[in-house]
Parts: sequence; structure tokens; C-alpha cells
Amino acid sequence: MKPAVLLTRKLPSSVMARLETACDVECFDGGTMPHEELVARVAGTRALVSMITDTVDRAVIEAGSDLRVIANVGVGYNNIDVAAARARGIAVTNTPDVLTDATADLTWALILAVTRRVGEGERLVRRGAWRGWAFDQLLGMALRGKQLGIVGFGRIGRAVAHRAGVFGMSVAYTVRASVGRRGGPSRVPDSEPMPLDRLLSTSDIVSLHLPLTSETLHLIDQPALARMKRTAYVINTSRGAVVDEAALAWALTNRLIAGAALDVYEREPLVHPDLMTLENVLLVPHLGSATTETRTAMADLAVRNVVAVLTGQPPLTPVP
Ligand code: DGY
Repeated sequence: MKPAVLLTRKLPSSVMARLETACDVECFDGGTMPHEELVARVAGTRALVSMITDTVDRAVIEAGSDLRVIANVGVGYNNIDVAAARARGIAVTNTPDVLTDATADLTWALILAVTRRVGEGERLVRRGAWRGWAFDQLLGMALRGKQLGIVGFGRIGRAVAHRAGVFGMSVAYTVRASVGRRGGPSRVPDSEPMPLDRLLSTSDIVSLHLPLTSETLHLIDQPALARMKRTAYVINTSRGAVVDEAALAWALTNRLIAGAALDVYEREPLVHPDLMTLENVLLVPHLGSATTETRTAMADLAVRNVVAVLTGQPPLTPVP
């Protein structure tokens, strides 16, 4: 008998086919799987393929007493109680590397869009308020000669840094013990490590690339924002709660910083209401890894982790 695997949503057909040759696949097919249904349906399954929007907490893990592996489709895994899983001998895996370029590219899309006021310009045109070219209309900030501050110099942070030279920017970065030196090329030309406080007070763009942990929760709070240059921008493509959204709205309203671009939010899909009304913040709906190629690669890696564990091999990408 093939081992039972629960997927909280359908994956691309090529990936489903690979899984179905080795496993008996059950799949939720209606958006985000309700938590109660996840608890009820995980019983008796040997593997769970979860999305970053599924809360895989103690209740799920206890109900899944036959689980051998939880394969999260995402590099972030703050949605999983890893300690509870480990205590029951369940492997937890994520999908690093395959989404690094997509997320770094989206970070640059946000940097360019917010500093060149693309969102504001688009809104102006759509509401029929554009009156034609004007010498001083929607002036943004040039990137050449400016400093990009990368908070969290892991794979994605370094990939963002590697693209900075193209735009003539120097790079400052913080290194945290938990994310500092895993994978990828570590030497970035024209870059300098710095303590967070100095990075905040000297950077023109501050881009966040940290996992969400108890240490990084609200790392960017009122005091951190007050340290930044008034002409600087915050970019967040990591996890929403690394930024205190209320503090960010305060800093943007009071022009303590020039602007922000967010891909992630504290309580997705909710966005702090004060941010919704501000012109100097660009808001996009968690698109970091959203290319067809990347999402397929993420699903494929999650499934390969499941097959590895269920055939007695070590997981390919266990969470650290
Ligand atoms: C991740 O993989 O953690 C991303 O946030 C998904 O886009």
C-alpha cells in the first residue's frame, strides 16, 4: 500500500504526477484549507505538504500521529511549530534556493518602483488627473552613488546585493548568526558589514531579508525608523511582522522617512488601514516568489523532500 500524503492545495500537474507514482495523494481543492479541516484530515497520513498560509501548530502535529515529514512550500517556515514536530521525530523541510532569484528580482522591482514613484504615477493616470509632462512632476530619487542597506545577509539578501552594482549602489549589510553564511556566493563587490544602528542611519534604501523569529519580530520599530535618514526608503520582502506596521505608518505620515514598499504584512491579507491611504508606500500582495517557474520548482522540491523521507532517505532541505 502506498503511503498517504495530504496536500493543502493542488500543485502543478507535473509535480502531482511525480508524487502520485510513490504516494496515495489526498488534496484540498478550495483555496486555503480551514485549520479544523487540516486537523481532521491529517490523521493517518505519512506526509503533509503545506503552504506558508497553513498554520501547522501543535494541534495539527498531534492529530498527525503517523506523520514522518512536513514539507512546506516556501523558504519561510514560521507557520510551523518546528519544535513540536521535532519532538515527535517528524522531519520539517522548506524550499530554499529555488526562489532566491525571483525574490531578489521582486525586491528590485519594489526598490525601483518606490524610488521612481511608479505607483503614484499609475494612480494619477488611471484617475484621469494627469495633465501632461511637467518639469517637476513626481520627482524620485536616483540610485547611483547611494547606499543599499541589507538587513539579513542570507541567500536572498546576497542575491539582492549582487544586483546593486548594476544601479551604481554600494552595499552595507548586517550578518546575523542564524542567517549569515548559508549557501550562495558571499563576496559582494563594494560591500561592507555594519551594525544595524549604523546601517539604518547611513543607508538610502533599507531592505529586509530576515526570517520571522522572536528576535526579529518588530525589529523595525519606531526607534529604528527614527534612526533612518529622512530621504530613505524601507523595502520588505521577508515577513510582515519584522516591521511594526503601525510604527511604519507613523514614520511615513510624519515624513521621518521618504517611503516604503511592502510585499508582506503582519496579518495577511489585512494591511494596516493607515498604510492604505498613504501615497508614499507601495503595497503588493506577497509576490516574492510568484513566477510560474519558481512556484513549480518550489512544489517540486517539497515533493522530492516527501519522497526522500518516505523512502528512508534523508530530507533534501531540512529546516535549519
Ligand atoms: C516564502 O517562500 O517564504 C515566500 O514568502 C513565499 O513567497
